[in-house]
Amino acid sequence: MAQATPFPQDRTCPYHPPTGYRPLSEQGPLNRVTLYDDSEAWLVTGHAEAQALLTDPRLSADRQNPAFPLLARRFELSRREPLALLGVDDPLHNKQRRTLIPTFGVKQVAAMRPGIQRVVDELLDAVLAQGPPAELVAAFALPVPSIVICELLGVPYADHDFFEEASRRILRGATAEDSEAGRLELMDYLGDLVDRKAKAAGGHPGRDATPEGVLDELVRDRLGDGTLDRDELVRLALILLIAGHETTANMISLGTFTLLEHPDQLAALRADPERTRDAVEELLRFLSIADGLVRVATEDIEVAGRTIRADDGVILSAATVNRDTTVYPGADDLDVRRNARHHLAFGFGIHQCLGQNLARAELEIALHSLLARIPDLRLAVPADEIRMKPGDTIQGLVELPVTWGRG
Ligand code: HEM
Repeated sequence: MAQATPFPQDRTCPYHPPTGYRPLSEQGPLNRVTLYDDSEAWLVTGHAEAQALLTDPRLSADRQNPAFPLLARRFELSRREPLALLGVDDPLHNKQRRTLIPTFGVKQVAAMRPGIQRVVDELLDAVLAQGPPAELVAAFALPVPSIVICELLGVPYADHDFFEEASRRILRGATAEDSEAGRLELMDYLGDLVDRKAKAAGGHPGRDATPEGVLDELVRDRLGDGTLDRDELVRLALILLIAGHETTANMISLGTFTLLEHPDQLAALRADPERTRDAVEELLRFLSIADGLVRVATEDIEVAGRTIRADDGVILSAATVNRDTTVYPGADDLDVRRNARHHLAFGFGIHQCLGQNLARAELEIALHSLLARIPDLRLAVPADEIRMKPGDTIQGLVELPVTWGRG
């Protein structure tokens, strides 16, 4: 029998799903794939099936379950530790999520917009003062969400080199040991921060004072009333800090690159900047940077004429689902005029991205301001020299060298 298609694979083009996935969607919405350790799992590529499965309580996100499938060897050690929110099922998941919903609501994020605009303006001032050229990941795409999440949580941005590198090792470390060491270092750092905040809440900040933010509220209200214990709070801080900067940074860099590579779409956006909101939605669909949402079945599930057995691994390929032509005609074309709603770039169901309102606001402000302030932005090197992140992590660019004017 032919071997099942390997998953994940590296992208051949930064903005298209790997060409190796193409036969999968042609074979049907549910297929067997082979993972790095030769184990097999189901890969879901149909939009309707993905939505149904992501709301099915018989799929678990608990990566401590030995049957939970992993996308890379580097997660073999960290899977033994609980992962807040994304790695827990209800009712614990619901309890954790409820403590954070007020922070990331539509109204709360709308109130953050002037602050996000200030961060974006200051970074673009510096880019323009120092360039052309510029390396846009380090100068803009990464610091925008990194500063914003630090200000929101109350984490000192001065420590960004440390936590960005620890996050990189967790997500893309060379080995399982490296990835786990990155996680432990970040847990220690955030544990210390939470302790300093607890001291301040007790009226003794001393020389240890930290910037005020949502973590301080959680320390005061949720540690105080016993809803969360210290360990759980530190784990929540870890996922918020990582998810809060890595993902959006990748969307800003890859989104900019993709627009520069689609001059007709860029022109349509420039002609009507009011379209930025639709363009962001379309870029989220088209790029689907968080591909491979991972679950394990806890009971048998019938779907699309197949039976997923209890303990089978199930992976939902957001990038393939979001190219389902029955939902998005001409799905492989970027179309900033498209209504791309119902995409799965933020997932679906109980784990749907908690930070999606914030991510949308950051992307709208960052892309709009970048294109307005540098109207003749262009790549500084040929497109095929731009290095991409590997297929088994959140998709993005390692660097984005750009220039403008006579640079
Ligand atoms: C464009 C940027 C972003 C993308 C594409 C993205 C994507 C996703 C996806 C696909 C999931 C669901 C994963 C799954 O079901 O397995 C998710 C969950 C999550 N995201 Fe985001 N995200 C982004 C930005 C953010 C930001 C800015 C934050 C802010 C803290 C954030 C926090 C979270 C959290 C906490 C979860 C887990 C929610 C839960 O399990 O209840 N994300 N994200």
